[in-house]
This record gives sequence, structure tokens and C-alpha cells, in this order.
Amino acid sequence: MQQDNNIFIFEHPLIKHKISMLRDKNTGTNEFRKLVEEIAMLMGYEALSDLPLKDVEVETPIETCMTPMIAGRKLAVVPILRAGLGMVGGILSLVPTAKVGHIGMYRDEETHEPQEYYCKLPNPIDERTIVVVDPMLATGGSAVDAVSQIKKHGGKKIKFLCIIGAPEGVEKFHAAHPDVQLYIGQMDRQLNENAYICPGLGDAGDRIFGTK
Ligand code: PRP
Ligand code: URA
Repeated sequence: MQQDNNIFIFEHPLIKHKISMLRDKNTGTNEFRKLVEEIAMLMGYEALSDLPLKDVEVETPIETCMTPMIAGRKLAVVPILRAGLGMVGGILSLVPTAKVGHIGMYRDEETHEPQEYYCKLPNPIDERTIVVVDPMLATGGSAVDAVSQIKKHGGKKIKFLCIIGAPEGVEKFHAAHPDVQLYIGQMDRQLNENAYICPGLGDAGDRIFGTK
């Protein structure tokens, strides 16, 4: 994985392979959904490698020992609706006890500005590690606003996971939230005139839910 400040870009061949399958316009809804969940799991496994541990006493069939378990108030997963929902299962397969919040955002088709329509977060959230998930970081508007909203609710230790990032969005996000660890499955070339990522994978929400 490449790391620069708080930006982490994955190099793992399994992630690259699965993202290439996502890009294919002939990949259908069912397979697309499964791939998004698998990629989220692979990314989450690495992104959670710094979760704090605490030794607890456990009795094995042989003897009693002190052994490490995840410490503290644990995790919250926060998908940005809709497309982020596709990644939640992947993270929950790693940490099934995590709480799940939701932030609803859609991009205005003309201005490409994010419009927030829903926010419900676990309360209190300040002691949790918060993993925000959204497959696409395009202009960065949705991600920046979602994280600002989480911070307003008291969120402090925040990680953002996206499957594909555009340079414009990554720059904007890191400038707005340099304290947030940003994990990117793959960096793409640029945005087009409609603010879609090139080569990208199209509209992630439509491909996950079979809409359009
Ligand atoms: C997509 C995607 C991100 C956003 C990224 O959602 O899931 O949330 O666009 O674009 P940005 O970086 O330019 O803000 P969309 O607005 O299409 O909503 P949807 O998930 O409901 O389809
Ligand atoms: N949202 C998407 O779903 N895809 C893009 O390429 C950009 C924003």
C-alpha cells in the first residue's frame, strides 16, 4: 500500500483484479454487488489494522491467559447513501458488532454539488472509530460534507474508504479533512465534463441497485 500523509492507496492484486471486474460494463447487478462487498472487506481488513487492543482474561481448555481483544467503544460504519450501502456488509463481516449510521447525499445533476437529505448516527459517536464508506470519490463534495456532518456530531477518529478516487476529489478531501485517514482502492485519471470518474465504473448507485 502507498502512503502519503493520511492518504493510503491499495496495491493488492486481489483489490486491483476485483476493481477491474467492477469497471466492466457487462458486469451485472448481482456480481457487482458481491464485488463491492468483497473489496470493502479487503480494504477494511487493512484499514482497521491500527484498532487498539486490550488484554483480557480468557480460560482456554488448558489454562487461563491474558489475550488481546479490540478495546474501547469500538466501531461505527457510516455509508453515504445510496452507493455506500453496498460496502457495509464487507465491513460488518469483519466487525459484526459495529453500529451503523447513515448519511443521505445526492449530487445535483446540474451543479454536481452534494445535497444532504438524511443523517442518523450512533449516539454518542465521539469515542468510536468511524469508518465512512462510499465507492466513489469524484469531485469530493459528498465526502467532504459527510465528514463535516460527522464531526459536527462529535466524531473524531474518522477513516474514509472509497473504491475509486479521482485526483480532484482526493485533493479537495485531504485539504478539507487532513486529519481523516483516506483509503483508496484505486486512483483514476480525471473527471469528465459531467463530473464522472474516468475510466471509473459509471454510476455506482445505479449499478449496485440496478436502477436507471
Ligand atoms: C455518488 C457516489 C458519491 C458521490 C461522489 O453518489 O456514491 O456519494 O456520487 O461524487 P462527488 O465526489 O462528486 O460528490 P450519487 O450522488 O450519485 O448518489 P447515489 O449514491 O444515491 O446514486
Ligand atoms: N458518482 C458515481 O457513481 N460515479 C462517478 O463516476 C462519479 C460520481
